[in-house]
Amino acid sequence: MIHSIEDLQEIVNNKISQEEQYTQEIRVCTGSSCSSLGSDELYKDLQKNLSQTPEHKCKVKGVGCNGLCSAAIMVSHYDKSSSKETIYGRIETTQNEDFVCLASNKTNKLETKKCDMSSAFFTKQKKIVLENVGIIDPNDIEDYIYHGGYFALFRALEDKTPSDIINEVKLSGLRGRGGGGYPTGLKWESVSKVESQQKFIICNGDEGDPGAFMDRAVMESDPHRVLEGMALAGYACGANMGFIYVRAEYPLAVEKLNKAIKQARARGILGQNIASSNFSFDVEVRLGGGAFVCGEATALIASIEGNRGHPRQKPPHLSDRGLWNEPTVLNNVETFANIPTIIKKGGEWFKAIGTATSSGTKVFALTGHIQNTGLVEVPMGITLKELIYEIGGGISGGRKLKAIQTGGPSGGCIPAQLLDTQVDYDSLKDIGSIMGSGGLIVMDESSNMVEVAKFFIDFCKSESCGKCVPCRVGTVELSDLLDKFVKKEAKRSDFELLKQMCEVVSQTSLCGLGQTAPNPVVSTLKYFENEYLQGIKNA
Ligand SMILES: Cc1cc2nc3c(=O)[nH]c(=O)nc-3n(C[C@H](O)[C@H](O)[C@H](O)COP(=O)(O)O)c2cc1C
Ligand code: SF4
Ligand code: FES
Repeated sequence: MIHSIEDLQEIVNNKISQEEQYTQEIRVCTGSSCSSLGSDELYKDLQKNLSQTPEHKCKVKGVGCNGLCSAAIMVSHYDKSSSKETIYGRIETTQNEDFVCLASNKTNKLETKKCDMSSAFFTKQKKIVLENVGIIDPNDIEDYIYHGGYFALFRALEDKTPSDIINEVKLSGLRGRGGGGYPTGLKWESVSKVESQQKFIICNGDEGDPGAFMDRAVMESDPHRVLEGMALAGYACGANMGFIYVRAEYPLAVEKLNKAIKQARARGILGQNIASSNFSFDVEVRLGGGAFVCGEATALIASIEGNRGHPRQKPPHLSDRGLWNEPTVLNNVETFANIPTIIKKGGEWFKAIGTATSSGTKVFALTGHIQNTGLVEVPMGITLKELIYEIGGGISGGRKLKAIQTGGPSGGCIPAQLLDTQVDYDSLKDIGSIMGSGGLIVMDESSNMVEVAKFFIDFCKSESCGKCVPCRVGTVELSDLLDKFVKKEAKRSDFELLKQMCEVVSQTSLCGLGQTAPNPVVSTLKYFENEYLQGIKNA
């Protein structure tokens, strides 16, 4: 059992002596994309082959997704003496022999599989949330501790008061990464101020935006970081129970989280009197059925309570009446994953990264017509141009960029001429989109923007819970209207009707789903009006 910082340090010391027997590490990605191509098999083969030859002094590790999923299967080689990591992509499951040769400095066929480690994809990222991803074994709590994990929680419990934690988070300027960008410190402060015997912490891992997989990667690759962030929130706000709501379509994330919870409980990091303090905290995973609306805070709570996932009117806010009517903090996975580093390095340190109103970094899932599809973490304030053309490697197929969609179904389409826009909450909002949770879809010149708008409206139409008329009926009307433009059968009056319908749906819907559903239509009308006008019959 771990009762103190000294106990944590002892684990680190033991690990250091165990690691001394190795001079190199081979890290096989066992994230969803790589394991779907058979990386688990390769990992097991390598473990068997290299552990039978201890003279190689090579440790073989299964790690989480390090971002470049487009080059799955990814395997990296880490040379301890030079601290140099070389990443290999598009590895075949049959290439285990090549890695055995690499580990023993023999000729192998891996040269052509080397990723360019000097490219912007590797050098321009700034990793806070993903700092352990691709490095630690998510199945091993001791590896997390070895890389500095749980020290922030134990230091907080030994030396800091709950209000110290809240002040640090406020100072950091951290804003919620689930889409809305609400200041996390303020959210925690309001819950901490409410007198109640029972409070809850909820981690929102629903991640329903099409194309998004940031939270899945964090939960699969570094689950203890999420638990540590939640426990710190529990200590700061006076809550002793937490739930992680994950969609059942994320079986690997569910498996890793449950394993991490079990390991943390077994070592006394979750449970009664953590670090011999008066603070007790436990976490359970709750599965969602994959409805987009269940990512909305009040619908998510209804779903955990065993009710239909329908949103409700706010106020009352969750800080007053959340889960089972008790004060509740609900944050996104990435928000919690930032917390241990903020507490360890300080709010000032975090605030110095990014822009004045959007501090820290943001994880994006780059998808669509882009060379480097995958997961990246960048400092806020980077321009879209740097993100797409440098880190993302530019547009695939030698085509021209037409638009970038950020914020999923609640977001907007940004035209290529606005590429110099900074990636931060306010700049994206100013041009009619939103940061959202981090899905970023790149579209080339072959994309039809009316069809893109229709795709998102159809998504909202089928995901609408049906509780309120403007969203239930409005999204159907919007879809039908857009269909006329796509088929070039619209009347001139449909153009005005479309705009009015967007206004009505966004102004009168009950929850965020309906209120933001028209956003992709509004932004494409703003920047690509011509494509709508071409959809008018005999125009
Ligand atoms: C329709 C809808 C779906 C949402 N889906 C998610 C989601 O999958 N994950 C998430 O963190 N937030 C989602 N949100 C936002 C949450 O309601 C909530 O604001 C967020 O989880 C709060 O965490 P944060 O402050 O850390 O961002 C969604 C909102 C709406 C309206
Ligand atoms: S806006 Fe849509 S999703 Fe939200 S409550 Fe109304 S019908 Fe349900
Ligand atoms: S899952 Fe292996 S690189 Fe993303």
